[in-house]
Amino acid sequence: MPTHDEGVMVGKQWRSVCKGLVLGTVLASCMILFYCLSAPEVQISFPEVPVPYSCARRPSPDRASRAGRGWAGCVPKVDVMFMKTHKTASSTILNILFRFGEKHRVRFAFPSMRNDFSYPSPFHHSQVQGYSPGACFNIICNHMRFNEAEVAKVLPADAAYVTVLREPADLFESSFHYFGRLIPFTWKISGDDKLAEFLRDPELYYDPEGFNSFYLKNLLFFDLGQDNNLPPNDPRVEAAIRAIARRFQLVMLVEHFEESLILLKDALCWDMEDLLFFKLNARKGSTVSKLTPELRAKALDWNAIDWKLYQHFNTSFWRKVEVYGWERMERDVAELRRRNVEMAAICIEGGHAVDAGSIHETAMQPWQPIGEKSILGYNLKKNVDKAHRKLCRKMLTPELQYLTDLGVNLWITKLWGHIRDILHW
Ligand SMILES: *[C@@H]1O[C@H](CO)[C@@H](O)[C@H](O)[C@H]1NC(C)=O
Repeated sequence: MPTHDEGVMVGKQWRSVCKGLVLGTVLASCMILFYCLSAPEVQISFPEVPVPYSCARRPSPDRASRAGRGWAGCVPKVDVMFMKTHKTASSTILNILFRFGEKHRVRFAFPSMRNDFSYPSPFHHSQVQGYSPGACFNIICNHMRFNEAEVAKVLPADAAYVTVLREPADLFESSFHYFGRLIPFTWKISGDDKLAEFLRDPELYYDPEGFNSFYLKNLLFFDLGQDNNLPPNDPRVEAAIRAIARRFQLVMLVEHFEESLILLKDALCWDMEDLLFFKLNARKGSTVSKLTPELRAKALDWNAIDWKLYQHFNTSFWRKVEVYGWERMERDVAELRRRNVEMAAICIEGGHAVDAGSIHETAMQPWQPIGEKSILGYNLKKNVDKAHRKLCRKMLTPELQYLTDLGVNLWITKLWGHIRDILHW
């Protein structure tokens, strides 16, 4: 006869097995659905028509007065490829790009039915909603696995390519937390601290062929379209880093977010106002595990290619700051911070981010990772003055809602959200 405690234990295990099975089945069905809907069979093959070298339109008198000349007398660059990497504050940057795009009435190259370009499949121009040969789009910025030749079919040749990196140990921690449950080989990791257990002996658990495995090894390199399972000393790694450096005009660093935005403004001739931001999609502090120095070292070792990538672009980043001027940078960062604080006081109820449960409007609810509500959001203040009302709302709107506002049909993403609501994930 099992004791009561054993009975409870068995019940618990049984429940978690059931949950695993249901999760597996639903995931598999959804993936099949995704692939059926976004498979290349439905791609109509268009004759190849090159995109014009530049999509810049002659500014209309109206446009010139509204948003024409930037602060330095240069013309703001509206053709931008933003390579949205995972877990790198890129949702905050997307909000900036969406607002900039609306202000200049640009044409975005959006995905259809979902909020990414069939990630993790490599980008293909046919994934763009409303693509037609020779069409000119201005900004592309949703998640994709980078594919240089295909992106070039959508954007003008003089578009600015920009991306953002994060220190790979922190990125790994964040990705493990956010995507862990979607990676079947993590289900067998035992113990309370799965991350530490994984890093103790990654080879024991990691399966390069495993479903979603790329989330846990050199994710940045993978997002940038490269093979994340190469040995770190393979010459192809260096070659890929050089190719990325050639293609991307600016590689920002999350750890120096304001400096990054100032460099962006400088490179693209934007206004300070374009850069205003609230941190979107941030995680509750209590769910962020502080890596010990040992774990950090192991995580960097495990993500050795991303670490090389990061160090390379860290060097070029500070070289750019040097050219910009240290004092000038310090001044501009201080101004941006001051204006962000000012905006927070104007727009945000209570002045700071809150738990999902305390967000009043569904329009302000951020998307949550499976299994918990750890992502924070905001409440828009009630009596915002008329001059700021629109900007406040835009700055606080989470990514999916903003995409919907911009006319993107997200039915697959939404269906997935409903399934999760029903199952309480
Ligand atoms: C980044 O570069 C700066 C300036 O050269 C250096 O002080 C810092 O240690 C570098 N950081 C990393 C992570 O390599």
